[in-house]
Amino acid sequence: KKINVILSGGVGSRLWPLSRKSRPKQYLPIFDGNTLFQKTAKRNSEFCDEILVVGNCENFELSRKDLESSEIEQYKEIIEACPRNTAAAIAFAAFQANPEDILFVTPSDHLIESGAEYKKAIKRAIELAKNGFIVTFGLNAKKPETGFGYIEAEGEEVKSFREKPNKETAEAFIKAGNFYWNSGMFCFQAGVFLEELKAFEPEVYEKSKLVFDKSKDGFLDLDLSMQIPSISVDYAVMERTKKIKVVPSYFSWSDMGSFESIYDYFKKQGHSIDSKGNMVIGTDIHTEFTGLKNTILVHTSDAILVLKKDNAQDVKKVFERLEKEK
Ligand code: GDD
Ligand code: MG
Repeated sequence: KKINVILSGGVGSRLWPLSRKSRPKQYLPIFDGNTLFQKTAKRNSEFCDEILVVGNCENFELSRKDLESSEIEQYKEIIEACPRNTAAAIAFAAFQANPEDILFVTPSDHLIESGAEYKKAIKRAIELAKNGFIVTFGLNAKKPETGFGYIEAEGEEVKSFREKPNKETAEAFIKAGNFYWNSGMFCFQAGVFLEELKAFEPEVYEKSKLVFDKSKDGFLDLDLSMQIPSISVDYAVMERTKKIKVVPSYFSWSDMGSFESIYDYFKKQGHSIDSKGNMVIGTDIHTEFTGLKNTILVHTSDAILVLKKDNAQDVKKVFERLEKEK
């Protein structure tokens, strides 16, 4: 069986005030009326027999609503009591599956075009996964982004996997030319993943297993979950496993991680923008910018954010300050 494991744990702090704790970015219906979560589920239901959402107690109702309005009936869910990062989240999915099931693990917050290139990449990944490999998808690394993982490759062979390098290292990777960005999607047999996790992070393996075994109707226990070490799958498994392969991929992909990427996407879609590159998001109220360029105004019913496009990463700090002040 092929299962699309959709990870839905992030809060989307860089997209405040559009995204809130109560409504993370993957549930915002701002992509032609669809949410990124919905688009993910629809895109992958074509390749997979089943969808398994690993989300949390604050968002599972939003996931259900999205799936039901997309007429996807074949889905299961694992509901975390608290986020313990992606190694544990994927482990829960793997424990739920049969060891030989193919898991196609995807984030819920990426914008991906599901054309021929996407199909080709997934098809190849499934073939490799059937042969016991842990498969990553390599994307053209456009700039020395430090928020991504990098895959050093020769064809489908992986020489090294390097999660979130610093700026200088990322620059060296881009210069070297044989590094891809890691897409954040993975494909493998459930049993193969668990073997590797057990070898490299036995504590994550054991504690996640305990939590999964004690779960009730998909709900995980809070106190037990708190004991699972928080580590991402990239550090826990991808940087270390010898079973890793990469499928060089050419589908269009965008990590809707900040207002900079939202801006670029909206611009491409023909969203209105003035001659100085200023953009309004979230309202049709007539807005003028004077003496400003590359500024984004984000309007919601109870908050307004004005930011320079270049400072898109700083929104996270605003979000964190507001959370503290609560
Ligand atoms: N269920 C669950 N529980 N989901 C989680 C948790 C958790 O505790 N933590 C994160 N997620 C989900 C996020 O919602 C997202 O969909 C996905 O897992 C990846 O987590 P991120 O926190 O967004 O990871 P990242 O963006 O820093 O890095 C990953 O993605 C990059 C591409 O966007 C890595 O795989 C990088 O190597 C990769 O380049
Ligand atoms: Mg991400």
